[in-house]
Amino acid sequence: MTLIIARRVVSLLAVVVAMTRALPAPTLRERQAITALSSTQISAFKPYTNYASAAYCQPESTIAWNCGVSCQANPTFKPVASGGDGNTNQFWFVGFDPTLGEVIVSHQGTNTQDILSLLEDVDIIQESLAPTLFPGISSSIKVHSGFAGSQSRSAPDWQGNDYGPLTRCRYCTARRHFFPLHLPGVTVRFIGYGLPRVGNQDFADYVDAQSASVTHINNKEDPVPILPGLFLGYHHPSGEVHIQDSGEWASCPGQDNESDQCIVGDVPTIFEGQASDHDGPYDGVEMPGC
Ligand SMILES: *[C@@H]1O[C@H](CO)[C@@H](O)[C@H](O)[C@H]1NC(C)=O
Repeated sequence: MTLIIARRVVSLLAVVVAMTRALPAPTLRERQAITALSSTQISAFKPYTNYASAAYCQPESTIAWNCGVSCQANPTFKPVASGGDGNTNQFWFVGFDPTLGEVIVSHQGTNTQDILSLLEDVDIIQESLAPTLFPGISSSIKVHSGFAGSQSRSAPDWQGNDYGPLTRCRYCTARRHFFPLHLPGVTVRFIGYGLPRVGNQDFADYVDAQSASVTHINNKEDPVPILPGLFLGYHHPSGEVHIQDSGEWASCPGQDNESDQCIVGDVPTIFEGQASDHDGPYDGVEMPGC
């Protein structure tokens, strides 16, 4: 169930999903005040930031794990499958990090100009999620139609079926590798960078109700996370971390916290936004890593 969140939100964004059998780190949403992350807490995100950055690289280079600095930053990684065309279907890869003891699923984000034009599109329609991809989900949970479409195109590529092989992966280390998505006892962590608002209030509440830890990191004046607007009925789940101009990382409690230490207060409209902030740097890591 928890991975459904991951499957859903990964469609257009630079994201990393890490799965481990270890106990989860304390989730950021448990904190009530806006607090600054310690340098140790910031550093703990770095492997995932590099995985997200590597997701922009050609599948030929991520399957060989020779994509350059983003790959070298996590030298023990064992890739299992890579795919996408970087165009209609974003690049992605899946593998195992023995240092972290985690399965990593990483998915490329859309380039800034394309995602801004998609999000600013006046034709913003919400739709329910495809029951084939999200069995049993309530139809009151709605997401941006562009995300729903992109998701149903790309998810089957890296997801396989629930216990089946990655049938459509372009580059696989093992043709019949099985990638189980519903292992009991597996902790799922979702870390996204510069996420737009994906769905409605019911969607945000649904994500918050899952046991998976969700963190969405917003850089400075990136306008993408404030789109589509709250007034259009879009809401973020909890778990925001906002990188301030000072470089401090603030943990923002609740959904769409309006404090000026968080993205909603800091970037009230897209005119205060700075599109180049979408690409980072996130603790020194630029998001297109290739
Ligand atoms: C925003 O953060 C403050 C802590 O400074 C908290 O009291 C408030 O409830 C939060 N707002 C929302 C909408 O969660």
